[in-house]
Amino acid sequence: MNEVLLTGGFLSDEVRARLQANFKVRELPKLSSSLQQQSCENIGAVITTGHHGAGAELMDALPNLKVIACYGVGYDGIDIEAATARNIWVTNTPDVLNDDVADLALGLMLSITRRIPSAERYLREGKWQTQGDHPTTDRLTGKRLGMLGMGRIGGAIVRRALAFDMKISYHATAQKKDSPHQWAASAQELAEGCDILCAAMPATAATEKIVNAEVLRALGSKGYFINIGRGALADEPALVSALRDGVIAGAALDVFADEPHVPEELKKMENVVLSPHQGSATIHTRNAMGNLAAENVERVLRGEQPQTPVNNF
Ligand code: 8YV
Repeated sequence: MNEVLLTGGFLSDEVRARLQANFKVRELPKLSSSLQQQSCENIGAVITTGHHGAGAELMDALPNLKVIACYGVGYDGIDIEAATARNIWVTNTPDVLNDDVADLALGLMLSITRRIPSAERYLREGKWQTQGDHPTTDRLTGKRLGMLGMGRIGGAIVRRALAFDMKISYHATAQKKDSPHQWAASAQELAEGCDILCAAMPATAATEKIVNAEVLRALGSKGYFINIGRGALADEPALVSALRDGVIAGAALDVFADEPHVPEELKKMENVVLSPHQGSATIHTRNAMGNLAAENVERVLRGEQPQTPVNNF
């Protein structure tokens, strides 16, 4: 019987039950140490995340591995080259999470401009009664949105932003020929021309720390930074300094450089909204992601092509 290895406890009961109907399911939170002591010949599939990843060492420990299914659209932790060289399919879960990630991006924009979390703290702490109304805030409607990344998620964010009368410009790895929106040749140029810089691009060697101190300076003291993509897209120490020194007005972040660790300084700042990497974390979407990962595994283990491959050989 084919076995499926999970690198963590992230799948819902519904998806686990689907897998368990066809396969033996094993879960190894501490992969490398446990693998050496266990027999792995029957493991035909690994389900992992961009965060847990899968490297060459894991692939070499699993002689019959045929597919690595990433539960998530971002597969930055998976060594694609190593998998391709070993004829192992890598798949991800595109599209099914676009709407929920985009919803959270707009939620973060509203939260930071309207100060929703800190205003709620103000109420809960009794300050409304003792100190009067919460201070007035900035607004979202009509602001200029600079999208860093204009893929499926970026597009879903833009569709929502248009309902807030936002003016859109973007920078991405490639210019979209059919896009009606203003193209910026670099992250810095994008930041110069927007009020809200929103990162939603994959983490690669080319995009690492694309939001650096200079880009934050270009965004300016009235600008906000939203990160819904990957922590690696921002130079986190530079971001902390920019927020502390008023180089930018604020930030709302769903992703961090070293999750689940978040710099202590950020937790103390009032001009920051923090969210524990939960863009796709609705029951609906996590089930859809899990089912798509399961579908990819089932197809490959039946000898078919996966539905949403990342590599090819
Ligand atoms: C998930 C994600 O949080 O799709 C991605 O790239 O980061 C998220 O949807 C993750 O894969 C689950 O841990």
